[in-house]
Amino acid sequence: MSYQRFFEDAVDTLRRERRYRTFAEIERAADRFPHAVWHTPDGPRDIVIWCSNDYLGMGCHEAVVEAMCATARKAGAGAGGTRNISGNSHAVVELERELADLHGKEAGLVFTSGYVSNQTGISTLARLIPDCLVLSDALNHNSMIEGVRQAGRDKQVFRHNDLAHLEELLKAAGDRPKLIVFESVYSMDGDVAPIGAICDLAKKYDAMTYLDEVHAVGMYGPRGGGIAERDGVMHRVDVIEGTLGKAFGVVGGYITGKAAVMDAVRSYAPGFIFTTALPPAVAAAAAASVRHLKASAGERTRQHAQVAKVKAALDAAGLPQMVTDTHIVPVMVGDATLCKAASDLLLNEHGIYIQPINYPTVPRGTERLRITPGPFHDDALVARLADALVDVWTRLGLAFVTRAEAAE
Ligand SMILES: Cc1ncc(COP(=O)(O)O)c(C=O)c1O
Repeated sequence: MSYQRFFEDAVDTLRRERRYRTFAEIERAADRFPHAVWHTPDGPRDIVIWCSNDYLGMGCHEAVVEAMCATARKAGAGAGGTRNISGNSHAVVELERELADLHGKEAGLVFTSGYVSNQTGISTLARLIPDCLVLSDALNHNSMIEGVRQAGRDKQVFRHNDLAHLEELLKAAGDRPKLIVFESVYSMDGDVAPIGAICDLAKKYDAMTYLDEVHAVGMYGPRGGGIAERDGVMHRVDVIEGTLGKAFGVVGGYITGKAAVMDAVRSYAPGFIFTTALPPAVAAAAAASVRHLKASAGERTRQHAQVAKVKAALDAAGLPQMVTDTHIVPVMVGDATLCKAASDLLLNEHGIYIQPINYPTVPRGTERLRITPGPFHDDALVARLADALVDVWTRLGLAFVTRAEAAE
């Protein structure tokens, strides 16, 4: 039997469906982010990253890099085991205190990624609640969907951000235990959940709430606590989940909430128990980043300013961006091949790196370029981006938005 054939066929399917992914090999330049080196077969080329989820450039921040290096020198490279077996480093425990404080919760629990925190966090919480019904937003991230699936509990999906639908499902569920899982900033469309109103419903129908703030922590709220902090409703959400890998610029994930809840997840979650802990150096770097962003609003202010400039420049150029209230700027292409072609042209001809976003990350027919301006994209880079997009749109015959359409 040719086992290899199974795998080749699987990949061929992706090629046929025009969603085979290629990765550019890049090396970020820590001293001049968002510039990077792209390693091509013909040698290295200088490029500008416009699709990073290191939204604030904290992965290159001096205090963060220094914390990582100093801790590695002091404590070594790895954790040395799971949290149960010698991996419970001082740096990880300090990070958990920092995160609990960030979200105004009693305790925090760190995982190896945001993905794992959702997958094992949601499944463990739901399994520990007898007869739990999980209510999940239709656009929740795959890590949350997997968490819900692995819980093996009854599940109902409410239409995206649709309070009336959520209420209907809550009402129909009666007085059985209910867990509502949702995000604050939805990363592909850049829209925001009505967190306060969802908490109102949770209170009315006696449900528990679990909020993913992965695309908001560090960037919203006076101390970077996320949209819930910005909206003054952080204390009303039972469990807040986040990542250390995006705006905090490092890697890892976490949940925060009541001490008893964190203790239970710590004690029952396979994705916490059976894996090597985060290295102390990584935890120290993440803690330095969280600490910095609690005290410094500069990165957030500048990010918001540059996002507004990008949106204005794309508007002026008639590029079909989706309207968002956040730092995520999706530009619609609507076709997988054209989306990849646009991304390739931007990189090859303009040295601008924006990965195409195709199915299954977004529905077919809504393929897009997802632009994430940050504090270090200066005005000259913004102008270059708009010019490059206009060139690519023209060459590929993609539609521009007319003034009349924009006014609609
Ligand atoms: C909404 C959401 N939650 C969780 C994750 C996973 O986070 P991490 O990248 O830290 O694994 C992602 C990743 O993109 C995400 O978009």
